[in-house]
Amino acid sequence: MEEAVRVKNTGLRGVTVADTKISYIDGERGILIYRGYRIEELAERSSFLEVAYLLLHGVLPGRSELKAFEEEVTAVREIPDFIVDSYRRWPKDADPMDVLQASVPLLATDDPDLKATTKEANVRMAVKLIARLPALVAAWHRIRSGRDPLPPDNSLPHAANFLWQLHGVKPDPQIAKDLDVCLVLHADHTFNASTFACREVVSTQAHMYAGVAGGIGALSGSLHGGANARVMKMLTEVEPWVQSEKSVTDWVNDKLSKGQKIMGMGHAVYKTFDPRSTILKKMSERLGKKLGQPHWYEWLTTIEAAALQEFEKRGKTNIKSNVDFYSGSVYHMMGIPVDLMTPIFAISRISGWTSHIIEEKFADAQEKPALYRPEAEYVGDYCGQIGCVYQPLEARA
Ligand SMILES: CC(C)(COP(=O)(O)OP(=O)(O)OC[C@H]1O[C@@H](n2cnc3c(N)ncnc32)[C@H](O)[C@@H]1OP(=O)(O)O)[C@@H](O)C(=O)NCCC(=O)NCCS
Repeated sequence: MEEAVRVKNTGLRGVTVADTKISYIDGERGILIYRGYRIEELAERSSFLEVAYLLLHGVLPGRSELKAFEEEVTAVREIPDFIVDSYRRWPKDADPMDVLQASVPLLATDDPDLKATTKEANVRMAVKLIARLPALVAAWHRIRSGRDPLPPDNSLPHAANFLWQLHGVKPDPQIAKDLDVCLVLHADHTFNASTFACREVVSTQAHMYAGVAGGIGALSGSLHGGANARVMKMLTEVEPWVQSEKSVTDWVNDKLSKGQKIMGMGHAVYKTFDPRSTILKKMSERLGKKLGQPHWYEWLTTIEAAALQEFEKRGKTNIKSNVDFYSGSVYHMMGIPVDLMTPIFAISRISGWTSHIIEEKFADAQEKPALYRPEAEYVGDYCGQIGCVYQPLEARA
């Protein structure tokens, strides 16, 4: 009898598990596309909400469609009072990613669309999540720092309103625009770990909020959304080397020889520069000059150049800077605390997650919905088909 070939692929690298029409990466050429459009063009010419519409609906909105979508999002920005009241009793040192993940099912309990199974109801839930995730992050930050949360300012666009709700100061329009570009850059990235988590959860027909809570959990890990914050921590490590005029190359060498990684470099899919990093690099330089903090960009470019040289010497020419290398410095200059950097990733990626959840639930890119159910190779104890001899509790040592 012919034996079935069983291939085990730990980490699912290179395994295609579904079709998608939402985004595409060419890792060899450094290309990222949302619904057919290049990321460079979207970052330069579209707003985040325009991109969220594109991801959700599959086409760029017309002028009146965009206005209606912006109004729809603005109308549902406020979060329920019971969530804000409950935040006041949560431990103030709770990690903002845990708070965000725990808050999403709370939003579900208040959503009249929760049990509806139509695509329209799912799009409405997506709009509410896109509108409210920033408000949750801002409300938690204010409460943990002993201040009252602020209501949204509906005269402000999406990113500007977030900065207002966070800091209580009307932001510089250029800085708000830069944050909006960051949200465009992080909006989607094919089957990354958090998006796959969202899709896997809803493949059981669980609701959208359950899927998003799974996605936020996956994003919180340091190999995924947590890397931008770790780049900022790395910069504090480098500072004494720079101040004492020791060579940054020595610092890079020291790290690599200890088998440690340079945060914000390398990527599971890109084997050349990440196109998002190229845009953020320019933004970091420009903001540094504007805000009188050019040293972040200078240190990062010095580390990048030294690391590229060292990687080359070690024959690893495909490790380049990724989206997280420059984004930490950009957020820092916007006054965003290090532990809110990953939540900001989430307030952007929510547009991609919800689009993928809808694509998964309604099988928009394939014949019919499928429940994810991979297999694992059992390598534990085995005593044959009758099972191991069961010792009653009293008979065990
Ligand atoms: C993102 C990442 C997990 C991709 O991993 P991957 O493609 O699966 O590659 P691996 O982690 O298996 O690394 C392959 C080799 O390159 C090395 N490498 C990869 N990224 C590296 C980095 N940032 N610094 C130093 N070495 C690195 C690994 O040590 C490994 O070396 P080895 O073969 O001698 O063991 C990895 O590059 C990484 O950990 N980067 C730092 C964290 C980060 O920035 N994450 C955000 C991603 S957007």
